[in-house]
Amino acid sequence: MIKVNNLKKSYKDVQALNGVSFRVAAGELFAYLGPNGAGKTTTIRILTGLAKRSGGDAWINGFHIEHEALEAKRQCGLVPQSINLDQELTVYENLMIHGLLFRMPTAKRTEKMREILAYVGLGDREKMPVARLSGGLKRRLTIARALVHSPRVLFLDEPTVGLDAGIRRRIWALIKMIKEDGTTIFLTTHYIEEAEFLAERVAFLDEGRVVALDSPQSLISRQGAWAIDRVVDNNVKTIYFKTKEAAKEYTAMQDESFSFRRVNLEDAFLALTGKRVK
Ligand SMILES: Nc1ncnc2c1ncn2[C@@H]1O[C@H](COP(=O)(O)OP(=O)(O)OP(=O)(O)O)[C@@H](O)[C@H]1O
Ligand SMILES: [Mg+2]
Repeated sequence: MIKVNNLKKSYKDVQALNGVSFRVAAGELFAYLGPNGAGKTTTIRILTGLAKRSGGDAWINGFHIEHEALEAKRQCGLVPQSINLDQELTVYENLMIHGLLFRMPTAKRTEKMREILAYVGLGDREKMPVARLSGGLKRRLTIARALVHSPRVLFLDEPTVGLDAGIRRRIWALIKMIKEDGTTIFLTTHYIEEAEFLAERVAFLDEGRVVALDSPQSLISRQGAWAIDRVVDNNVKTIYFKTKEAAKEYTAMQDESFSFRRVNLEDAFLALTGKRVK
């Protein structure tokens, strides 16, 4: 469970978080969606104890992120935005270092590492140097590393950025599996379809503020069900309709031809912020 109340973060001349509040229930998969610079990584860094808040409060499974920092940290697994594995070491050694950091007893650590490597599909590569893994396998390994100490809450900061569509989907399957096993998941992304496919609830973050928070379906249906994109004065203008019939009625009155599409989270984000997520 994650509870965040009016969280603020300022750097010298940048207000990165302007009073963010939300709750994530135990076992929930929550997505934090926003464009570059919205404050996604800043939020994760504060919640996982890597950066200090400037204001507000937050608790991870009831432990305050600063007053009970050690306990709060122990609840968290983190997959950072940039892959920070030790490239010279093997798959197994990378996990071992993490287990040592969390002071796991040797027998438990060894057992858990084997289990996790099999779980993420790296069981046959434990002796391989990380440098020789593909981008997708490196992502799997950073996820495995985050799970070694059995965290109750997993933070994934853009876990599929830079991966091609097929590999991205395999990571999605892994994320779903981790959720099914009862872990609370906080995911940041600027891939609309990732939030739409994975998340039970989505927060839209823009310039350090949560501008909407709901299920993907509710956010989408606020906007409509069907959309038509038209080019008007060199710009794409989108018209939204509650029903397909209404959209058909509209096109029957025009002499151009149109194609319909389903309204998606990008439409909802654009309507609220005037911006695209990426
Ligand atoms: N260490 C820092 N010092 C100064 N400013 C920072 C620092 N870290 C982040 N910022 C600023 O805070 C704002 C939020 O950055 P953050 O990295 O949280 O965004 P983000 O949503 O994760 O973006 P991206 O999608 O690019 O990863 C940005 O304006 C960024 O430039
Ligand atoms: Mg980021």
